[in-house]
Amino acid sequence: MELQTKPIEALLEEERVFAPPKKFREQAIIKDESVYKKAAKNPEKFWEEIAKELEWYKKWRKVLKWKPPFAEWFVGGKINVSYNCIDRHVKTFRKNKAAIIWEGELGETQILTYWDLYREVNKFANVLRSLGVKKGERVTIYLPMIPELPIAMLACARIGAPHSVVFGGFSAESLRDRINDAQAKILITADGGYRRGNIVPLKKNADEALKETRSIEKVIVVRRVGEKAQIEMKEGRDLWWHELMKDAPSYAEPEKMDSEDMLYILYTSGTTGKPKGIVHTTGGYLVGVHITTKWVFDLKEEDTYWCTADIGWVTGHSYIVYGPLSNGATSLMYEGAPDYPDKDRFWEIVEKHKVTIFYTAPTAIRTFMKWGEEYPRKHDLSSLRLLGTVGEPINPEAWMWYYENIGGKRCPIVDTWWQTETGMIMITPLPGVTRLKPGSATKPFPGIEADIVDDNGKSIKTGAGYLVLKRPWPAMLRTIYGDPERYVEQYWSRFPGMYFTGDGAKRDKDGYFWLLGRVDDVINVAGHRVSTMEVESALVDHPLVAEAAVIGRKDELKGQAITAFVTLKEGVESSSNLADDLKRHVVKKIGAIARPEEIIFTAELPKTRSGKIMRRLLRDIAEGRALGDTTTLSDPAVIRELKEKYEEKET
Ligand code: WTA
Repeated sequence: MELQTKPIEALLEEERVFAPPKKFREQAIIKDESVYKKAAKNPEKFWEEIAKELEWYKKWRKVLKWKPPFAEWFVGGKINVSYNCIDRHVKTFRKNKAAIIWEGELGETQILTYWDLYREVNKFANVLRSLGVKKGERVTIYLPMIPELPIAMLACARIGAPHSVVFGGFSAESLRDRINDAQAKILITADGGYRRGNIVPLKKNADEALKETRSIEKVIVVRRVGEKAQIEMKEGRDLWWHELMKDAPSYAEPEKMDSEDMLYILYTSGTTGKPKGIVHTTGGYLVGVHITTKWVFDLKEEDTYWCTADIGWVTGHSYIVYGPLSNGATSLMYEGAPDYPDKDRFWEIVEKHKVTIFYTAPTAIRTFMKWGEEYPRKHDLSSLRLLGTVGEPINPEAWMWYYENIGGKRCPIVDTWWQTETGMIMITPLPGVTRLKPGSATKPFPGIEADIVDDNGKSIKTGAGYLVLKRPWPAMLRTIYGDPERYVEQYWSRFPGMYFTGDGAKRDKDGYFWLLGRVDDVINVAGHRVSTMEVESALVDHPLVAEAAVIGRKDELKGQAITAFVTLKEGVESSSNLADDLKRHVVKKIGAIARPEEIIFTAELPKTRSGKIMRRLLRDIAEGRALGDTTTLSDPAVIRELKEKYEEKET
């Protein structure tokens, strides 16, 4: 592992500070810093107080049982997530309040009130039960951003069947691997999805995946695109969602789940080729996402909250579905792309629904910057009162652009650092309290103990090091599905007694955290985690490839872009056609998010004498830097030739 010190170095000199506007602070849920002190004094008591905001069938005996690195939260408590996200609200004035406002890519709108959501979730829970799904059995969901997606998730939560949502952009092979790892019994998919007017062939991918899976008994298919998809329904296996729902009974008793029962699995890229099934459980997860949604987004009854993520990623799980609904909020979800039909689509949606809180990714903001101010300017964005970002470090220029052009200089920005593994936001401003510095995620959320350490695990007061978490938190992952050893190894071995995030960070003199990006073999492409190993495996899977090394190089829009250095088998000629073919191969194996931006053919890869590929030098080449230390190379000529070749290509 090596810590890359990026040009972000300069950020420590950032001098702009934005105090919460008086108007915002006065109305904020959290108005002063006392919560930090209270939480630090007795974290367990702090979390316990929050847990009381939810409705439990049975109270916990103990807040935390901590046998490092295995945690149990709200031990002995019984609770149901679907009940807390829906039933709790339909008993109140929220019954007819919009729970989900759905915007279709084609411009249609659907509004589900809490009562609508209650009805649909209950019915679908009964559908699942009628197909024999029992508590603890896994359901894989491979859907586009349509209302059936949160409905299916909540129905799973209702009957205690952990869901595994697979992002609709993943390939048939990725879907297959995830189904097999979870040994899922049911697959829920759609005939197709819309993306920029094109059709994503979800059902066809599912059919392909199911050729090599044995656990799936039934496939439930949502009709989204109809005739255009041209799908086949396999007799005895495939069932239409709408037909199953027609006669489903309208009430399904929620399962009384143990606080530590599994709520879901979500796969994410790690440092090896095989994606990890991150396991989240019930009570602690809900407590964590409930309070972070409420405090970080200052979420009020009358807000219209929009998180632009896809529910296929953790951001959508925690901050489109579970967090907002647990708070009884109105959560908007949009099916399509930001530039469809035109580049002002997001702003059109903000204006149309009078969105008040808007949460998106830095890569999207940089893209909006490139498209120009005329697009947001076409629309009335005055309803917005708070902005958020997540997924990667935000560069100060993008922060300022967002602040000025989207927030009209009146909206605080919450830059939220967290991970699939953390389940909830961990480092973030509280918008009514924190003085913001563009580019800094500021401070750990109350009750969270984050630190920056050196190679030996020693805390660094100011300066750069590895970001670690020193105390368990309620929404933390509990394990890697089916692989507790990997859980220990991956997160708890680098620094004994601490959770290692895989990120580098700096702390400035005011104690603010500045995230520096991944320090492991995970890269962050447009806010999506991609493992370099996974892309390498996909490349060497191609019959003509002998060896591959994949790195992330800096990219203005995506944060990082994938560059692959490839050695071909003896006698194979390189060509641009072959490069295209290799890119297609990666897309087929993993999905479009992993497509290499560029492929460089090379006769040899730079290796140390012990045979380790020196990725650091490859990054130097791809980012146009002078080569770092090359003394450990077995043959320094290799890298010099490669550098020349790369530079020739550039000119
Ligand atoms: C990165 C997404 C800087 C980080 C919620 C982390 C960030 C990885 C930020 C997790 C941020 C996320 N500033 N970097 N505000 N938010 N990251 O699992 O490298 O898809 O480890 O979870 O994204 O990505 P994941």
